[in-house]
Amino acid sequence: MASRCKTAILISGSGTNLQAFIDAVKKGDLDLELTVVFSNNPDAYGLKRAEQAGIPTACIQHSDYPDRESFDHAVIAELDRFEPDLLILAGFMRILSPTFVAHYAGKILNIHPALLPLYRGLNTHQRVLDAGDKWHGSTVHFVTEDLDGGPRILQGRLAVIPGESADELAARVQTVEHRIYPEAAGWVGSGKVRFENGQSWVDGKPAAEPVVQTHQV
Ligand code: GRF
Repeated sequence: MASRCKTAILISGSGTNLQAFIDAVKKGDLDLELTVVFSNNPDAYGLKRAEQAGIPTACIQHSDYPDRESFDHAVIAELDRFEPDLLILAGFMRILSPTFVAHYAGKILNIHPALLPLYRGLNTHQRVLDAGDKWHGSTVHFVTEDLDGGPRILQGRLAVIPGESADELAARVQTVEHRIYPEAAGWVGSGKVRFENGQSWVDGKPAAEPVVQTHQV
C-alpha cells in the first residue's frame, strides 16, 4: 500500500481512539492521510474532534434505512467518494454486512477490547474480572465476515490489578488502545502488514499469531 494511505475512520461515539490517530498524525508518528471521519450517529462527539482537526466528516443514520443491507450500500457510496485505501473502525457500533466487508476486503481494521480469541462480543472487562484472569488487553485485527474473528495483527496486554473495577480496567485498556491502534494501522498503511488469502502477512511472511506487547499503565 502506498504511503499517505487514504484512511477513513468510522465512529459511533466519543472517539478517543480517533483522537489518538489525529494526535499521532499531527506529531508525525503516523503516515496516514485521514480523509474522512464517518459516523452513524450525528451526536457522536468524535465528529467534533474531526471538525476541530480539520478532517471532513460524513454522517448517515442507520435509523433512516429499512435494513442493514440498504444502510451499508449508502455508507459505501458515501465513503467511496473519498476513495479510501484503509477503513479504521474505532467504536463503530454497527455490524457490517457481508457486502460491505467484501467491498473493502482486506482494508478494514477493528480494535476489540480483549485478547482475542478470548472474549469476543460485549462486556469484555467484567467477563475478564469474573473469570479471575491475570491478563487482559486489546487486539487490532483485520475485519472479515467472522465478527471479532479476523486475522489478528497486534495485541497490547496488561496485568489485571486485583480488586480493580471493570471501569478502572476499561480505562487502562483504552490507554493501551490509543498506543497500539495507530501503530498497527501504520504497519498496514505502509504495506509492512497486509491481508491476503484470508490471513495476515508481515514483511511478506504469513503471520498466524499477532505481535504481542506488554504495557504498564
Ligand atoms: C474502544 O474501547 C474499542 O475497543 C471498542 O470501542 C471503543 C471505542 O472507544 N471497539 P472510543 O470511541 O474510541 O473512545
